[in-house]
Amino acid sequence: MLKKIECFFQPSKLDEIKDELVKMDVGGMSVSEVKGFGTQRGYLEGEKINKKVKFLPKIKVEIVVDEEIVEQVIETIRRLCTAKTIGAGKIFVIPVEDAVRIRTAEVGKSAIY
Ligand SMILES: Nc1ncnc2c1ncn2[C@@H]1O[C@H](COP(=O)(O)OP(=O)(O)OP(=O)(O)O)[C@@H](O)[C@H]1O
Ligand SMILES: [Mg+2]
Repeated sequence: MLKKIECFFQPSKLDEIKDELVKMDVGGMSVSEVKGFGTQRGYLEGEKINKKVKFLPKIKVEIVVDEEIVEQVIETIRRLCTAKTIGAGKIFVIPVEDAVRIRTAEVGKSAIY
């Protein structure tokens, strides 16, 4: 089974996360610069909160992997992003119906690795 790991974290963590993930069995990854908010609605620790919801810059990484390495990928991201402060990020795991490598028409796991 293939799973997509979609995670959001602080932009400063991207290089380290990329370096660690390429050491693992990932076939590829996509990175986007996004804006988002979590439960604090875009406010930083110590900031005075009012009604206005704000966006903060985050990085979104999407990686489709075999389910066998999902836990390992999550642990790696968590280890590198862990902070005592709010806004360290979030990881979602999503089932993937199928994958197709366009060049060869390979599908499923063969399309990823
Ligand atoms: N439910 C969600 N749906 C989509 N994206 C989310 C969701 N929650 C968080 N995100 C994304 O993750 C980023 C980081 O979230 P964040 O770490 O602030 O989560 P949190 O639940 O508020 O945890 P914390 O209390 O540690 O701050 C957000 O800026 C947003 O881009
Ligand atoms: Mg938050």
